[in-house]
Amino acid sequence: MGLLEGKVAIVTGAGNGLGEAYAKLFAKEGASVVVNDLGGPRDGSGSDKSAAQKVVDEIIAAGGKAVANGDDVSTMEGGENIAKTALDNFGQIDILVCNAGILRDKTFANTSEQDWDLVVKVHLKGTYCCTMPVWKWMKDNGKPGVIVMTSSTSGLYGNFGQSNYGAAKAGIYGFMRVLSIEGRKYGIRVMGLAPGAFTRMTSDLPSQRGGEPNPLSLPENVAPGVLYMVSDLAADHTGKVLAVSQRGVREIKMMQTDGFQPERPYTAQDVAAAADKVFFPAAPDKTAKDG
Ligand code: NAI
Repeated sequence: MGLLEGKVAIVTGAGNGLGEAYAKLFAKEGASVVVNDLGGPRDGSGSDKSAAQKVVDEIIAAGGKAVANGDDVSTMEGGENIAKTALDNFGQIDILVCNAGILRDKTFANTSEQDWDLVVKVHLKGTYCCTMPVWKWMKDNGKPGVIVMTSSTSGLYGNFGQSNYGAAKAGIYGFMRVLSIEGRKYGIRVMGLAPGAFTRMTSDLPSQRGGEPNPLSLPENVAPGVLYMVSDLAADHTGKVLAVSQRGVREIKMMQTDGFQPERPYTAQDVAAAADKVFFPAAPDKTAKDG
């Protein structure tokens, strides 16, 4: 029996790349899948509804269950239609993976208001718009479920030239943390994901340019980590971020030092003198750029 037998999963942005790999693996594991994708190029400037349908056709040809949805995740109407597609076709929602995304990388001084707004809208507001109807349905119907929100090391650690994207991805981290706390009383798990894979989004990064991608960096190598997160194998985990990439699966965690505990009043100079307690010791850089 598959890990997701009898479950209904929504994967946004599943017409390409990582989302496509998740949708196909979830279907193979027995889930009925809503494959959402607006289509269009990487910068979010257009749409092509055949992207989702192509993935659905492949899932059905392989003996799975899936339905396509071409809505825009970054509008409330789009989020509601995506949830409705799941309910109309499969009658329930157990899993939501907010994965859809775009890129408009530029150094900060060259980032226009439009580049800022669109990237934040698709990633951060898109996560809100898709989560809200699913959350309400799970809560109002007393159905436990799991929501995976896609963050990025670019937001959790920072990355040159991605101020809009990094801000959105760090915002998703905060959103995930809050909902994981609110979700406990409803049995809704909320997890964060920082993936890393060779897709059209990352294919022109300096580290990926030239030659064939390493097989370990293909989306199919991230999908089992995400399957783990949405399955009952991870039932004890909520509010956590997993980095899943060719480097394996590992948790990324917010940490604090023991700190400087002053005798009050204290001065800025006292803080400076206690810098070894305030800051972590300088250590080898572990801010691996998974994406
Ligand atoms: P991709 O470009 O291959 O796939 C993203 C999909 O989202 C596309 O099919 C696109 O049509 C869809 N999409 C874009 N805007 C949409 C909208 N408004 N409504 C519905 N669908 C929309 O990119 P990839 O690499 O598969 O990325 C998936 C997610 O993983 C994104 O959130 C990305 O930021 C994140 N990520 C990817 C990394 C990587 O190494 N590939 C690294 C870190 C994060």
